[in-house]
Amino acid sequence: MQVRLEEFDDPLGVARVEAGDECRIRLVGRLLVGKPGTRDRLPPCAAGTAAHITQIKAIVLNCTLKPSPASSSAELLGSQVLEALKEHQVTGELVRIVDHDIRFGVSTDEGDGDEWPQLRERILAAQILVVVTPIWMGQPSAVCKLVLERLNAEISETDDQGRLSTYGKVAGIGVVGNEDGAHHVTAELAQALTDVGFTLPANAVTYWVGEAMQTIDYQDLPSTPEKTDLTTRTLATNLDHLARLLDDAAYPATA
Ligand SMILES: Cc1cc2nc3c(=O)[nH]c(=O)nc-3n(C[C@H](O)[C@H](O)[C@H](O)COP(=O)(O)O)c2cc1C
Repeated sequence: MQVRLEEFDDPLGVARVEAGDECRIRLVGRLLVGKPGTRDRLPPCAAGTAAHITQIKAIVLNCTLKPSPASSSAELLGSQVLEALKEHQVTGELVRIVDHDIRFGVSTDEGDGDEWPQLRERILAAQILVVVTPIWMGQPSAVCKLVLERLNAEISETDDQGRLSTYGKVAGIGVVGNEDGAHHVTAELAQALTDVGFTLPANAVTYWVGEAMQTIDYQDLPSTPEKTDLTTRTLATNLDHLARLLDDAAYPATA
């Protein structure tokens, strides 16, 4: 029998597993579930083993300039990342930044109706953050820059051991354009995200720009290109993998 997250009413609680259940028990009795075959097999559980189940959560931020209900290529790529994460039992949400009153600034709360604090709570409640941006003039969108500036406030938010609130969180990147600039945008985002304490996995980005100097958008393609689809699924696999590793082994205290 495959132990699956959905079988437990309280996925964050303690579950009892039967003898022979296919599961993974870590040293501290933590049970991690995943897609069969995606991880090394550990010996079957002993009957009655108590196992903690970690529910990994993700939040995907769409940094398009277009408010809902306009269709957005970044929305499409972001939703595909979420779908791919679901394959790893990661739950999540997709937030379109321009639909919210997020103020400019570099603090955790700019006051006066700023909606960043509520969004920040949701970011802090997730172990995985994915920032998806369109490319404008070879740059991340202004909305993406706004998000990065707001995340910059986290460099002052530490726990009692000096670790940033973002330590232990994993970040991924999605980029859409219709001609060029994905690598440059990735470099900007990767630098900013590590600067504020996120950890990036291998192959931390999925993107699509198509052929140079063309005008076809990601959302206009008849189907998702195989290469981008594979890259999105690889990103999700690596995000999930690293999030679970960091959940098991927190960063040490900062001297
Ligand atoms: C004025 C303008 C500038 C753009 N600049 C770039 C660019 O430098 N590189 C690129 O690949 N795409 C560029 N694009 C294409 C957008 O990134 C593309 O339309 C993207 O899919 C928009 O995402 P969204 O629908 O989520 O907003 C540009 C589009 C416009 C209208």
